Amino acid sequence: MENYDILLKQIQSIVKKDLPLVSNLANTAAILFKMGDVNWAGFYLYQNDELVLGPFQGEVACTRIPLGKGVCGTSALKRETIIVDDVNQFDGHIACSSLSKSEIVVPIVKENQLVGVIDVDAPIYKRFKKKEKKFLEDVRDELLKVI
Ligand code: SME
Repeated sequence: MENYDILLKQIQSIVKKDLPLVSNLANTAAILFKMGDVNWAGFYLYQNDELVLGPFQGEVACTRIPLGKGVCGTSALKRETIIVDDVNQFDGHIACSSLSKSEIVVPIVKENQLVGVIDVDAPIYKRFKKKEKKFLEDVRDELLKVI
């Protein structure tokens, strides 16, 4: 059983305001990858009107996602967390890996400006529930303290 409290504490202790954003996100991705039963965990960052691949753990991923496209682009556009129980049922899902079966995307918004999204994929259906949503939104809130 994954212990999200411990993972959150690890993130709180490793993320620092005086570090570059890429360092904070890289270590956070490494910690998120320990959630268990996930095959990709990382970030897409908002640059020049699109999402661009940021630090992650897992397989090679697509590098650019237009706003409104895929789960990531939809979450970024709507500025709301999206849980997809079965990626095959999400119209427009961008399949970076055929292993991914379910997905959660949490938007990162600072002072009304879109920063990017947290994206976590799982190799099993219905991996992400209320508990995971709360954990990842707590992680997002920790990151906002140093962004
Ligand atoms: N599946 C995502 C694309 C990113 S990968 O999962 C890493 C999407 O539909 O936006």
